[in-house]
Amino acid sequence: MRAIEVRGLRKGYGDFIALNGIDLDVDEGEVFALLGPNGAGKTTLIRILAEGLSYDSGEIRVFGEPLSKKTARLIGYAPQESLAYDDLTVRENLEFYANLYDVPGKRVDELIERFKLPAKKKAKELSGGFKKRLNLAVALLYDPKILVLDEPSTGLDVPSKRELWELIKEFREEGKTVLLATHYMEEAEALADRVAIMNEGKVIAVGTPEELKGLAGNESVIHVEGILRGTEAILREFRAIERENVLRVSVEDARKALPKVVEALVEGGSEIRSIRIEEPTLEDVFLKLTGRGLE
Ligand SMILES: Nc1ncnc2c1ncn2[C@@H]1O[C@H](COP(=O)(O)OP(=O)(O)O)[C@@H](O)[C@H]1O
Ligand SMILES: [Mg+2]
Repeated sequence: MRAIEVRGLRKGYGDFIALNGIDLDVDEGEVFALLGPNGAGKTTLIRILAEGLSYDSGEIRVFGEPLSKKTARLIGYAPQESLAYDDLTVRENLEFYANLYDVPGKRVDELIERFKLPAKKKAKELSGGFKKRLNLAVALLYDPKILVLDEPSTGLDVPSKRELWELIKEFREEGKTVLLATHYMEEAEALADRVAIMNEGKVIAVGTPEELKGLAGNESVIHVEGILRGTEAILREFRAIERENVLRVSVEDARKALPKVVEALVEGGSEIRSIRIEEPTLEDVFLKLTGRGLE
């Protein structure tokens, strides 16, 4: 059964085209990730599905029914920003939303327990990880079949991120369908059954993480860490991503390319800490498809 079906979806903000003909199928029970850099259109798509944001044209079905007020209860939504009221406690926040959605109060207790939330703390006193969890709890209040999560772990430290990922895996085990947006490749790889790679308002590739990595063909990646100088020549000659202290160079033949890369770095005055050859990641695939990195 298709949980979500999107056909030819278009949305502009004035003259700017944010979604330029999106087709998407999310199956019931899968975790489906929208992966793309900032500005790709992920949040716009999610707000159309989960917030009733207007769109210009296209068709959307949720479990076979056209998207409408009637289907709204099938979808629970955790936006990127915290939706808690700062001066209310965790319990008061949940009670507020429970009231709004007409959900019995005992559901609030269940969720506080399930997410180990500090019920008496004010929302403004919560750590980033707990704010995100509170968002998830609100999204689950009316026990929706589909959870839509926008950048669920962005801004969290690694341990909190992992904890959140565990919760998302639990949703999947309970049979929920999860649609999540992320610009964070590891998140898509860790969680998603299937991934849609988005760029500039379009879906440019869909598949399992393995299938998508197959798009990189038999390329491998030279991964260099250190204090890197002289990378300009490499970025000109090769398909490469540079981030602080890390350079990733996609190549057909790593053995042949490696001396060139090392020479350019050494000549530039780099202090290389480590070099290794890796399999391509989803970000390397994104680079191949678009010519740029995800961040
Ligand atoms: N309310 C808005 N008004 C005008 N432009 C917007 C609005 N919301 C988003 N955009 C633009 O639409 C594009 C897609 O944004 P968004 O859907 O937030 O992408 P993502 O979530 O992938 O970062 C961006 O260029 C953004 O600046
Ligand atoms: Mg976004």
